[in-house]
Amino acid sequence: MAGIGPLPESAATTSPVGTRPASIWQHEPVAVDPSIIAVLQSGVDANPDDFALRAHLTTLLTDDGRFDEAWPHCDRLLAARPDDAEALALAERIATGRGHSERASSYRRLREALGHIPARSIGPGVAGGTHEETEMRPEPPVTANGVEHTTLGPDDLGDASADDYDAFLHTLVAEAGLDLEVPDLRLDDVGGLDDVKARITNSFLLPMANPELREMYGKSLRGGLLLYGPPGCGKTHLARAVAGELGARFIAVGLTDVLSMWLGQSEHNLHDVFQHARRCAPCVLFLDEIDALGQKRVNLKNSAGRNVVVQLLEELDGLRSANEGLFVLGATNQPWDLDPALRRPGRFDRMVCVLPPDEPARRAILTHHLTDRPLGAIDVAAIAKRTDGYSGADLRLVCETAAEAALVDSVERGEARPISQTDLARAAAEIRPSTRPWLDAARNYVTFANDDGQFDDLAAYLRRHKLI
Ligand SMILES: Nc1ncnc2c1ncn2[C@@H]1O[C@H](COP(=O)(O)OP(=O)(O)O)[C@@H](O)[C@H]1O
Ligand SMILES: [Mg+2]
Repeated sequence: MAGIGPLPESAATTSPVGTRPASIWQHEPVAVDPSIIAVLQSGVDANPDDFALRAHLTTLLTDDGRFDEAWPHCDRLLAARPDDAEALALAERIATGRGHSERASSYRRLREALGHIPARSIGPGVAGGTHEETEMRPEPPVTANGVEHTTLGPDDLGDASADDYDAFLHTLVAEAGLDLEVPDLRLDDVGGLDDVKARITNSFLLPMANPELREMYGKSLRGGLLLYGPPGCGKTHLARAVAGELGARFIAVGLTDVLSMWLGQSEHNLHDVFQHARRCAPCVLFLDEIDALGQKRVNLKNSAGRNVVVQLLEELDGLRSANEGLFVLGATNQPWDLDPALRRPGRFDRMVCVLPPDEPARRAILTHHLTDRPLGAIDVAAIAKRTDGYSGADLRLVCETAAEAALVDSVERGEARPISQTDLARAAAEIRPSTRPWLDAARNYVTFANDDGQFDDLAAYLRRHKLI
């Protein structure tokens, strides 16, 4: 990282108003020498990851009443250390200054709730200390047992209600460009896939929901679960249902976004994503498109990708971070592209193949998507029989298309009629199964790259369908 060289003594060790303010709780704007802000600004530009430097700049901008300029810096401070008491204090001042009083009080409650966590000092520390010490992501706050503490529950908020806390988390996560959901989907809402659901229940839900079991099995259950299979067969749907079963919050992130949105910042942003998810615990963090970190691609095209893999491993290993209450689910359409390091114990060590639904599963999925629609005399089993190779998404489309046909017809006739068997049969004939290209591609990997048996489920499916 490029150093900025020593700062002028005045900027480094004293505040523009003489000594650094004893408290950052001064609410009256104080006159700040603009040249000092300019020096700090260029320092931050040269060292975007220097937490202390940015914190100092943020403080001065806030002192100066330049809240709109201060906010993006404060936002980055919080992204790097969401539980930093002084960054939260700055956030409160800035929110107040910008007239967002509700948000300000959320920040205050959170800071108060964090009272038991030793606050890191926000600057000055610019001239003193090495860059290692002032990096954006140095030592996490450490609790008595030596574990990073970022997981807060509504209990930590004293008088604030759980709803307040949820609203606060939503705002915080949304500001980071992520979407926080509280799914009410359950495994029962996932049609068919009985053995997949049983595996998820036994290898994931039961141990995750039972701390004693987890204790007994120790670290081996800390890793994530990786879902793979052709598109549209329910990987995301299942992940949501897992969150629903656990009563956990749900954050889904496509890794291509992490890689492309913040070029050169990918690993920091991946860390931020994990920090946000930890803060939302209990939370299922669903990392889609894990194959974007594929080893081959990393080597060929994306030199930054390697750092992201390393970062992901670090986050999964939870070496510096408590992953308690964080459930990581990954999904990929290209399991053969995965960096083998990701498959080691404690990481994505359990792999579940989510294949196109078999006949009973198709019946269940069709029934699920026809529920709550007006139905005539229909024979779901007959449609299930003739839709081999259709994904869950294809089947949903069949139901929607049939419903649309019935609706259009009803409008034309001027009287409502329910969905008929003909509507469904026509829709099924019109919509082609979308999984075939994936299965064709998978054939090669199963034939040539299944020495360790990791694709046995897939191989069995392909054999049953005479594709190998
Ligand atoms: N087993 C299933 N049961 C019910 N609906 C399903 C199932 N599989 C897929 N779907 C439907 O298809 C949509 C797409 O599935 P999704 O989970 O996004 O597939 P993937 O993530 O594997 O590409 C889901 O939102 C859901 O409506
Ligand atoms: Mg998906």
